[in-house]
Amino acid sequence: MIDLRSDTVTWPTEEMRLAMAQAVVGDDVYGEDPTINRLEELGAQKVGKEAALFVPSGTMSNLVALLAHTRPGEEIIVGAEAHIYYYEVGGLARVAGVLPRLIDDRDGIFTAEAIEKAFRPPNPHFPETRLICLENTHNRGGGAITPVENMREIYDLAREHGLSVHLDGARIFNAAVATGCPVTDFTRYADSVTVCLSKGLSAPVGSLLTGTRDFVTRARKARKLVGGGMRQAGVLAAAGIVALEKMVDRLAEDHANARHLAGGLAVIPGMIIDPRRVQTNIVSYELTSRITDGEFLMRLLDRGVLAGSSAPQRIRMVANRMVSAADIEIALEAVRAVMACGS
Ligand SMILES: Cc1ncc(COP(=O)(O)O)c(C=O)c1O
Repeated sequence: MIDLRSDTVTWPTEEMRLAMAQAVVGDDVYGEDPTINRLEELGAQKVGKEAALFVPSGTMSNLVALLAHTRPGEEIIVGAEAHIYYYEVGGLARVAGVLPRLIDDRDGIFTAEAIEKAFRPPNPHFPETRLICLENTHNRGGGAITPVENMREIYDLAREHGLSVHLDGARIFNAAVATGCPVTDFTRYADSVTVCLSKGLSAPVGSLLTGTRDFVTRARKARKLVGGGMRQAGVLAAAGIVALEKMVDRLAEDHANARHLAGGLAVIPGMIIDPRRVQTNIVSYELTSRITDGEFLMRLLDRGVLAGSSAPQRIRMVANRMVSAADIEIALEAVRAVMACGS
């Protein structure tokens, strides 16, 4: 099976499995797991922050970030397509109790201009705005990269208005590898950053929430509140260390495979795709023929290819470590065959 549904389907590498088996552990809720402590130090250092917190998932990292940045009843500015708003079970409202003020992030790129328009003047009728949430790269935006320059402008704007910035950087290393910029060029323009270890970086579990020491102390308490203290999770952190140290550079292979996939799809009749918009590992395209997305996915599955749908008639394929360049050719052949008999 060629699994292009997500980069979350990646299995841990042999080196990760070995590191997991040999991990020295302790009770992390007492701060005594040396492997988790090492991962947190390494993660903080990689993204240029003072501290980091190991959490089970990107979803928990973002939720804990909201709990640490805001108080119930405050407002956050967030993209209508952002993972935090779209895919996290409404945790922002239900658990953090914040009010989302939505901006249009359909193309996956944030601008200071769009965010500034969402600001409201001080007024007794309005909630307090506290936080701007960004996502880079942007999942529903087809892996789009918000350029460093935009991040800087947004951060300056946030500072002017006394707001904080949280970056959902689940795939921030993809942005760094694709642009050739150090990851800190992006992360310096956010107060807190979520980094996922279990997507393209291939760790089996885990994310890091990074920020100042003070922020991470608050986040640690919020993690406890949502039940995320993990005891001897050094066995998981050990894989995360390998992810950060060994798996970042190879993301370029996923990007090359995604570009190749997009180029091949662009010449198949019955779909709309602009390969120039494929900047990282996510390929998103629209079916224009009579075949429905459901049928398309089922017929692909019959040919041994798994993909996903992110909206009606919108197909998503994500290049990842489990899929080789040769697999991409096979996937393209499967799409050609499905479209030839489905249009
Ligand atoms: C941009 C983004 N943020 C957060 C998450 C959540 O990560 P997790 O699945 O580990 O909860 C995802 C998952 O795909 C994502 O794409």
